[in-house]
Amino acid sequence: MDDDRKDKQSPRPIRLKRYVLALILFWTAGVAVSLGWNIYQLQRSIFDIAGASADITYEKDVLYRRWVASKGGVYAPVSEMTPVNPHLRVADRDVTASGGLSLTLINPAYMTRQVNELARPGVNNFQGHITSLNPIRPANAPDGWEAQALESFERGEKEQRTVTRLSGEEYFRLMRPFVTEESCLKCHAAQGYRQGDIRGGISVSILMAPLRRVEHVRMLQLSLAHVFLWGIGLGVIGLVTKRLRTQTKKREEAEETVRLLAITDELTGLHNRRGFLSLAEHQLKVAVRSRRGLLLYFADLDGLKWINDTLGHEEGDQALMEAAAVLKETFRASDILARLGGDEYAVLALETSREHSTIFTARLQSLVDAKNREAGRKYRLSISVGESYYDSETPCLLDELISAADKRMYESKQDKKRRLAQGVSLADNASVSSGGRSDRAGERIRRGKKTERDF
Ligand code: HEC
Repeated sequence: MDDDRKDKQSPRPIRLKRYVLALILFWTAGVAVSLGWNIYQLQRSIFDIAGASADITYEKDVLYRRWVASKGGVYAPVSEMTPVNPHLRVADRDVTASGGLSLTLINPAYMTRQVNELARPGVNNFQGHITSLNPIRPANAPDGWEAQALESFERGEKEQRTVTRLSGEEYFRLMRPFVTEESCLKCHAAQGYRQGDIRGGISVSILMAPLRRVEHVRMLQLSLAHVFLWGIGLGVIGLVTKRLRTQTKKREEAEETVRLLAITDELTGLHNRRGFLSLAEHQLKVAVRSRRGLLLYFADLDGLKWINDTLGHEEGDQALMEAAAVLKETFRASDILARLGGDEYAVLALETSREHSTIFTARLQSLVDAKNREAGRKYRLSISVGESYYDSETPCLLDELISAADKRMYESKQDKKRRLAQGVSLADNASVSSGGRSDRAGERIRRGKKTERDF
């Protein structure tokens, strides 16, 4: 019985554990996905910010260039830093001011180049470059990435933007084609360029390191926030699980109490009829399996009616409890004791042989006698018993077993009455005797009816 019950109950905590594990996995996956998504978005926005910076740098470059182009170049004093541009072949390239100062014409590309050469790595986090697949000045030749971009412009692409490495550092690079306009023709018509032709391109490169630093800080913040969130989630799951466990435990305990109440006799604390029948039925099967014998006792508290009528029902209940206590003391803790109803008790002594019977009845008799010797008693305790033996070699039904025990008990009682009529003390008669009575006691017990056999 106990084994069966455990089998039925054990899956419950395991199932809960599985749910909790699934929940933890789900939560962890959710937080991980969220962190991944956030980091992905962060990286995209870093890319976008770099792109926006590149756009601005580029546009500024082009604007300054365009200004110089619109003037057809501007004059600057010739110096070591600003020598005459040998590639510029136009009239009035070199002029002398009225004061004698030597001036030379600065074409837009020359200006852009000088400005970009001013940009120092570490101070200015960008680089600009004006280049062409067909450079007038060989030093203006494109690098690998620029060459690819320029080729793509020839195929009709409008721009190139990407994060790539440039002289060992990570840069965001943007390049757009530089189309020949009317203002360019003054100097570039000689090379055969016409309006609309792609003369070359301007590339700008934004150093990623400062943005990456920002990105790393944000990434750390995001990760910490997610770890925090994850921890809180786990905490909540833990708390809810704990509460659920306690509730489940309480419910199980309540169920157990209800179950026990359903098979317990309230007054004596022994099993009731229902409990006895199901436990005994089970033990009969166990006995067959383990090839052990069983002794079934049917017991009756003598004179309950007299006690109830003469001393009151409280005293009657007392007597019923007393009988239960004596039976409990007589048998072993593992034996199944029950009050079937009214003044009837039943005991199933486990793992016994036929010979044990006399030991039990003798012990019961001596305990009853000891009780009756106690001072100040209002009634004499007397219990009639009858027993039957269950031989696992020749099994029978529980009903048959009970009937046989009941029959013997009845005979014992009749015998006792007879002797009482002959003036023999009641106390000496709580014993087993044999005789004949055919009464379907087993069935009677199952139906819970009581026969008129009280004194
Ligand atoms: C005042 C003359 C002048 C004007 C106007 C001018 N350029 Fe140039 N450009 C030059 C010279 C000279 C070079 C040669 C290299 C250098 O000076 O760095 C050059 C170089 C370039 C380059 C770099 C590749 C190379 O060939 O070395 C590009 C691209 C370019 N020019 C495009 C243009 C465009 C587009 C315009 C019109 C918006 C324009 N230029 C207007 C004189 C001019």
